[in-house]
Amino acid sequence: MKYIRHIAACLMAAVSAAPAFGDAGRGLEISHLGTSNTIVRVTSPARYLLLPVEESVDDATVNVLLDGRREATLNVRLARNKVDYYVPLDISRYAGRSVLLDIVTAQSRATVREASDDACWTLMSLSDSFDTTNREKYRPAFHHTPLYGWMNDPNGMFYKDGRWHLYYQYNPYGSKWQNMTWGHSSSPDLVSWTHHDPAIEPDDLGTVFSGSCVVDADNTAGFGSGAVVALYTSAGVNQTQSLAWSNDGGHTFTKYAGNPVITLESEARDPNVFWHEATGEWVLLLAHALDHEMLIYTSPDLKNWTLRSSFGKGLGAQDGVWECPDLMQLPVDGTDERKWVLLCNLNPGGVFGGSATQYFVGDFDGASFIPDTLSDGSVPVKWMDHGKDHYATVSWSGAPDGRHVVVGWMSNWQYAAEVPTKQFRSANTLPRDIALYRASDGQYYLRTMPSPEVDALRGRKATAVRGRRIGQRPQRFALPTQNDGVCEILLTLYASRAEAVIISLGNDAGESVDMVYDPSAASFSFDRTLSGITDFNHDFPARTEAPLTDDTKKLSLRIFVDRSSIEIFDGEGRFVMTNLVFPTSPYTTLTLSATGGRASLSSLEVYSLNPIASN
Ligand code: FRU
Repeated sequence: MKYIRHIAACLMAAVSAAPAFGDAGRGLEISHLGTSNTIVRVTSPARYLLLPVEESVDDATVNVLLDGRREATLNVRLARNKVDYYVPLDISRYAGRSVLLDIVTAQSRATVREASDDACWTLMSLSDSFDTTNREKYRPAFHHTPLYGWMNDPNGMFYKDGRWHLYYQYNPYGSKWQNMTWGHSSSPDLVSWTHHDPAIEPDDLGTVFSGSCVVDADNTAGFGSGAVVALYTSAGVNQTQSLAWSNDGGHTFTKYAGNPVITLESEARDPNVFWHEATGEWVLLLAHALDHEMLIYTSPDLKNWTLRSSFGKGLGAQDGVWECPDLMQLPVDGTDERKWVLLCNLNPGGVFGGSATQYFVGDFDGASFIPDTLSDGSVPVKWMDHGKDHYATVSWSGAPDGRHVVVGWMSNWQYAAEVPTKQFRSANTLPRDIALYRASDGQYYLRTMPSPEVDALRGRKATAVRGRRIGQRPQRFALPTQNDGVCEILLTLYASRAEAVIISLGNDAGESVDMVYDPSAASFSFDRTLSGITDFNHDFPARTEAPLTDDTKKLSLRIFVDRSSIEIFDGEGRFVMTNLVFPTSPYTTLTLSATGGRASLSSLEVYSLNPIASN
């Protein structure tokens, strides 16, 4: 009895020591209700409530109550011991209403007093501004990134009235995957980006996973002609497909009252919609993730969908999950022919481990996709990019001039959450124009080129060399130093008598990226094991390799070096290779050498590239 009285006394002391509804001076009243439950009342108007984040702790569940009713729930790694960065909760939209956060932290503390010592309670604050000036050394200079926070898949992209809209899987409350929301940026030229407010936020059906947008010019759905209609996955207890529309060009969306519009018993996501001219119907592809197939639906009005067929069981790369489909008809270079291409992102099970994009070439009649086969009847596995950091690639709906423009997420699920950046995580690849070509093996392959708009990034021409022999002795060329060395390198090599040509980018710290052009193996490889910081994840140090189809004696490359990425485009568009790198200081030299005989450098040009204003 005496013992129980003692415990009760201790508990009373702990509770009274915790600040109950204190801190009114900073516009917040904080009350600790238990070892894992705290409420925070906002008592002054402000634009933002800044939440301190510590990445290594578990998520706290933050319920936002407006006038006593739950408005939203966020998962935030609220700081316990130290603050890695802050994230803003925009409370200006709740002006005039009572705002209360009911917070449940993941691990409870032994006593309420101990729980009240967590750093977040003293450091959360109200503010009318949030500093998005990102000063991190690995923040890209000319690739699209979110202003802050985590990004994965690009999705919902459409072109309308001269602007390219890009949405993306976004966590506005931390630099790791959570709270999936459609972030939004737009661009007049595919290279300079304006960041907008998030476009579609989670609701009681779930968080907002990937999907697509179409412009409903003929008002088939009844939301107005020219309405932008989004189909996306609501990720709740189960994954279902939902619809939302926008009458202001894709800035704000209204969710359809009849959601969800597609339900299934098993995991299915990332609806991708397009208008099929020949049948006069909408077509939707849905990734039946664990079943490794794409389901194909049709609809007259974007709301009522009929399952018509499925594609993929047992075909192509089958490991991991199938995600983020796209289906489009592409011209075959130099002919009047057109073939259908089905993009299938899969993770893991990619060509170099983890995430990657495979594609199938074939025919589509509005209801079923039939893949081309090899002479033995099998369906070949083809990869869209031969690097480790290219995923969730899909195309813009309604691109002008018959173009097909794609963009990917420049990371890999193996280590995306661990890369050495802080206030933001991940960038998109450069935009790419795709078409098909027929190789000498009779097969159709994607031809991928940097979108022509990318040329506008060029600044000063830093190097121009013509007609050099390349032998065993390494020849060094200085890379531009402005803007941390971001540059484009264009080179054309003839293998001549060489067995291999080695192309290296290096810095003063002895770090290097080593690329090998091997004409006899018909391959081009990229090794980043010594490229800089690689030890944050054991899957990061890696070598990637692309096959060279047809002419193996000549190689032209366009190499785009940003602060933490290298994208290599074969000059003929036969392969692309996208890899992240984290050198401790920028690469300053390009070195060329050859083994087994001499090669010839027909031309080398290096341009420094201009940073895009929005970064
Ligand atoms: C692909 C993916 C999608 C899903 C999204 C969630 O990277 O897993 O299938 O919609 O990410 O953020």
